[in-house]
Amino acid sequence: MSRILLTGGAGYIGSHTYLRLVEAGHQVVILDNFMNARDDVPERLERISGHPVTVYRGDVRDRVLLDRVFAEQAIDGVVHFAALKAVGESVQKPLDYIHTNVGGLLTLMAAMEAADVRRIVFSSSATVYGDTDIQPIPEDHPRTYASPYAYTKITGETALEQVAAADSRWAVGILRYFNPVGAHRSALIGEDPGDIPNNLMPYIAKVATGELPKISVFGDDYDTSDGTGVRDYIHVEDLAQGHVLSLNALIETGQSHAVNLGTGTGSTVLEVIRAYSAACGRDLPYDIVDRRPGDVAVLTARPDKARDLIGFEARRTLDDMCRSSWAWVSGQIANS
Ligand code: NAD
Ligand code: UD1
Repeated sequence: MSRILLTGGAGYIGSHTYLRLVEAGHQVVILDNFMNARDDVPERLERISGHPVTVYRGDVRDRVLLDRVFAEQAIDGVVHFAALKAVGESVQKPLDYIHTNVGGLLTLMAAMEAADVRRIVFSSSATVYGDTDIQPIPEDHPRTYASPYAYTKITGETALEQVAAADSRWAVGILRYFNPVGAHRSALIGEDPGDIPNNLMPYIAKVATGELPKISVFGDDYDTSDGTGVRDYIHVEDLAQGHVLSLNALIETGQSHAVNLGTGTGSTVLEVIRAYSAACGRDLPYDIVDRRPGDVAVLTARPDKARDLIGFEARRTLDDMCRSSWAWVSGQIANS
C-alpha cells in the first residue's frame, strides 16, 4: 500500500482514478482548487468508496501549501491531473495555460524534490502528436504543437524526461490519453462540462437530455468509412485503471515510461451517435455541417507499448461508454 497525492483529483479523470486507486488498496490524498470541479465530489467519493476522503483545497502553484501537504502526509507518489484543458481557450489565454500547466508542474516537482518524493504519473494527451497521417500513432512519433495547450503538455513531458535522465531516483509515467468518455458505473460521478460543450460525447449527452436541440456533425467528406471523423474513445474507468498500472510499474521497477492510453480502435462520429441513441432509447437528431477548422480525419492510438510496459488493455466498448454516460447525465437531470 502506498500513499498517493492526486492533484486535480476532484476533476473528471482524477475522481475516477481516485476510486480505482482506493480499490487497489492505496491511500489517496486530493489537492484541488475546485475551479473546474463540483463542491460535492469529495462527498460522492466517500459514498462510493465507503472511506473518508482527505482533501486539500488550494492551488498546485502554491508552494507553501505543497510543502504542508508533503510535511503532513507521508506521500510515496504523485498523480498530476491539475491543469487547464480546453484547446480553443488556450489559444485565447496562452499565459493562463502556461502558468497553470507548466508553472504548476514545475512548482510541484520542486516540492517533490524537497520532500524526497520522486515518483510521478503525468496526464498528457494525444495532442502532443500534432496533425499526422500516421495512424495508429506510436509513442516514438515526433512531438509537435498546434496550440498553447499542446505546448504545455510537450513542455511538461520534456521537463519530466530531463529531470529523470539526470537523476535515476526520479521515476516518471507519462500517459497520453486519447479521447476519454463515459462515467463511473455508480452514475454518481462523471464529466460536467460547461453550458455548450466543445467535445462530441458531452455534446451528444446534452442533446439526449433535451438541453440542446441537435448535434452538428463536423464534416462527412473525410476519407473514413462513412466520411465523418474517427477517434479512439476510451472509457474513463479503463483510463483510471491505466493510472494504477502506471504507478505500480513505477513503484515496482523504478523505470520511467511514456505510453498511449487508447483502445487502438477508432469510431466515427455517426457510430458514436448511433451507439448513444441505442443507450438513451431514441434516435438523436443531427445535421451535417462544415468541417471544424483544425480537426484531423483520424486519431487512434497504437496500444501495444502500454500493454507491454505496464500491462494496460482497455476492455470497455463504445456501447459501455455511451450507456454509462447516459446513466450519469440522466441521473443528474432526474435529481435537479
Ligand atoms: P478536469 O478539469 O475535470 O480536472 C482538472 C482538475 O484540476 C479540476 O478538478 C480542477 O478544479 C483542478 N485544477 C485546475 N487548475 C488547478 C490548479 N491551478 N490547482 C489545483 N487544482 C486545479 O479535467 P480532466 O478531463 O479530468 O483532465 C485531467 C488531466 O488530463 C488534465 O491535465 C488534462 O489536460 C488531461 N487530459 C484530459 C483529456 C480529456 O479529454 N478530458 C485528454 C487528454 C489529457
Ligand atoms: C479534443 C481536443 C484534444 C483532446 C480531446 C479529448 C481539440 C482540437 N482537441 O479532440 O486535445 O485530447 O478532445 O477530449 O479540441 N465532433 C462533431 N461535432 C461536435 C463535436 C465534435 O462532429 O459537436 C467531431 C469532431 O470533428 C471529431 C470528433 O467529433 O471528429 C471528436 O471531437 P472532440 O470530442 O472534440 O475530440 P477531438 O477533436 O478528438
